[in-house]
Amino acid sequence: MKQERLAVIGVGLIGVRHAELIRAHEQCALVGLCDVDPNRRAVAERFGVPFYASVEELIERKQPSGVVIATSNDTHAAVAEICARRSVDVLIEKPIASTLEQAQRIVHTAQECGIQVLVGHHRRHNPLVQKVRELIGDGSLGRLIGVSILWVLLKPDDYFDVGWRRERPGGGPVLINLIHELDSLRFLCGEITEVYARTSSAVRGYAVEDSVSIALHFASGALGTVLASDATPAPWSYEATTGENPAYFRTHENCYTFLGTAASLAFPRMELWRYADGSRQGWKEPMERLAVAVAGADPLTRQLTHFCRVIRGEETPLVDAQDATKSLAVALAVQESARTGLPVNPAMVGAR
Ligand SMILES: NC(=O)c1ccc[n+]([C@@H]2O[C@H](COP(=O)([O-])OP(=O)(O)OC[C@H]3O[C@@H](n4cnc5c(N)ncnc54)[C@H](O)[C@@H]3O)[C@@H](O)[C@H]2O)c1
Repeated sequence: MKQERLAVIGVGLIGVRHAELIRAHEQCALVGLCDVDPNRRAVAERFGVPFYASVEELIERKQPSGVVIATSNDTHAAVAEICARRSVDVLIEKPIASTLEQAQRIVHTAQECGIQVLVGHHRRHNPLVQKVRELIGDGSLGRLIGVSILWVLLKPDDYFDVGWRRERPGGGPVLINLIHELDSLRFLCGEITEVYARTSSAVRGYAVEDSVSIALHFASGALGTVLASDATPAPWSYEATTGENPAYFRTHENCYTFLGTAASLAFPRMELWRYADGSRQGWKEPMERLAVAVAGADPLTRQLTHFCRVIRGEETPLVDAQDATKSLAVALAVQESARTGLPVNPAMVGAR
């Protein structure tokens, strides 16, 4: 099989991981790295590939068939535009951008230049997440009544040494982390039509929030809640419970609960609760807990395989630029609601 020639732009925390995955994957080859920070040259030396400080030069010299854009959120649109004008397909890390204007610029430029955009909401590639979607979709839970999400953990102090992670726009757990949960919620439960949120930065006092609570309303009529904080020593985050990223300590707890009229489901242990005798229901009746079997697989590797297929024209992006823009709109609606104290429809963000 012909290997896709891939490069990574932005070789910080996640960019290095993408470079490792590309190098290990049989369907692609790592042809170069790019970063505006000259100190990142050492990373390229470690990988044994050329280093470029300019995206234009990387593309001109190495002619990649696709690039992974893993730069800070606020720079995604400008970098994507350089790639689009040179007809290079892109995998853009989430969130697609920091603002709706930037995201829409990506949508339009990609259409104009005819490039493919895959956005790195990689959790949609996780077999566990796909199984939840299947169970909700096939009615195994009955009609979905609601979903409850905990995303609580402690980020180490030195995480905030990187300036943009403390600042708006672009920083903060809503745009950096909860964008994952909000995208997954859209993928699993359908479109979100209203959010009401409160945020707090009382622990660290940075410009960005460290804790947030969100009440959600879905187009289906289902309800949802999210409680999130990156400032508490707690075991109930997606990262810690799924073990998806080996860098995190794994706790094997649950972090999401899906509630239906026929059954409920705890994720990611995939514990399905229902009445043992379906004809006798109610709080005095015995319930049973079934373990739903799912074969695990690394979602970032699956996402990369998908990106190679997208480049070859064999598949369309699982998360395209328009889709990711809707997830960004939900995250921005959370911020707007927290700022104004009012409920916000994500389709109307910025209208006030
Ligand atoms: N999918 C995930 O689970 C996941 C995890 C972490 C981060 N992310 C996303 O990945 C992106 C990067 O996050 P990070 O934590 O790795 O950031 P980081 O700050 O560690 O790294 C970003 C790198 O991009 C470089 N850079 C900035 N502007 C550039 C430009 N115009 N051209 C080339 N290089 C440029 C910086 O010098 C830096 O080295 C963000 O969008 C973030 O939200 C995704």
